[in-house]
Amino acid sequence: MSFFGELYLRSTQPFLSPEITAREVAYLERCFTGLALPGPVVDLGCGHGRHAAPLNTSGALAGRVVGMELDTYSLSHRAPGFPAVQGDLRALPFQSGSLAGAYAWYSTLFAFSEMEHRVILREVARCLRPGALLVLHTVPCERLSEQPDAVFQRTLPDGSLLEEESHYDPDTGTDHGRRRLTLPDGRVLSGVYTIRYYPLAELAQLLESTGLAAKWVHGGLEGEPLSSTATDLIVGAELRHG
Ligand SMILES: C[S@@+](CC[C@H](N)C(=O)[O-])C[C@H]1O[C@@H](n2cnc3c(N)ncnc32)[C@H](O)[C@@H]1O
Repeated sequence: MSFFGELYLRSTQPFLSPEITAREVAYLERCFTGLALPGPVVDLGCGHGRHAAPLNTSGALAGRVVGMELDTYSLSHRAPGFPAVQGDLRALPFQSGSLAGAYAWYSTLFAFSEMEHRVILREVARCLRPGALLVLHTVPCERLSEQPDAVFQRTLPDGSLLEEESHYDPDTGTDHGRRRLTLPDGRVLSGVYTIRYYPLAELAQLLESTGLAAKWVHGGLEGEPLSSTATDLIVGAELRHG
């Protein structure tokens, strides 16, 4: 994991204000309010737990959230207040039919190959109970098409220099990026990433082909409909034959 881990956490955290995370947490809490099924709700690729920690601490999901993450650095730097298991999205460490819900924020499920996206969604479907809710967050591909090439350079509050360049290919719906972080002590962290941005119709098909079905779609954190100016693409899904 050259991209996720220390590089990702150090370079992303300065841009994730407490206000942004609080809005996302409030949104997720609303999504899962009223969930009557027993069983845990898993944060798939929980990172340092910015959603899992507050959700598990108070509110509708208190005591029910479990983080799942592959990266040891993220797990060891995680916020207090929630249990977490180390595991791989491609082979989830949960029993079949055991989860009341799951969510994955920030395109977490779509940073792999097309084939792996299928494997991951099949794994999620395997672990959900009938009636369980899956919430997937990503960004509408139109946002990427507007500005396919991005170059970014910024000195972070701790004095690190962050450099990034990315290119979105509309033919494949894939954004390829390269990030480099030079720490104040001269240590350099670098990595590449690939994120697939599925148009809604393709995402709905992908869900169908992996045993899931889209139940609702939001274009933002207030639950607004998906429009041409939407900033987010958030899908609520359930088992197809749940
Ligand atoms: C885009 S980040 C999102 C982190 C967190 N959900 C958030 O919104 O801040 C994706 C996360 O997935 C984790 N991840 C990447 N590949 C994984 C895998 N194969 N299995 C489990 N987690 C993985 C990364 O380490 C990272 O923490």
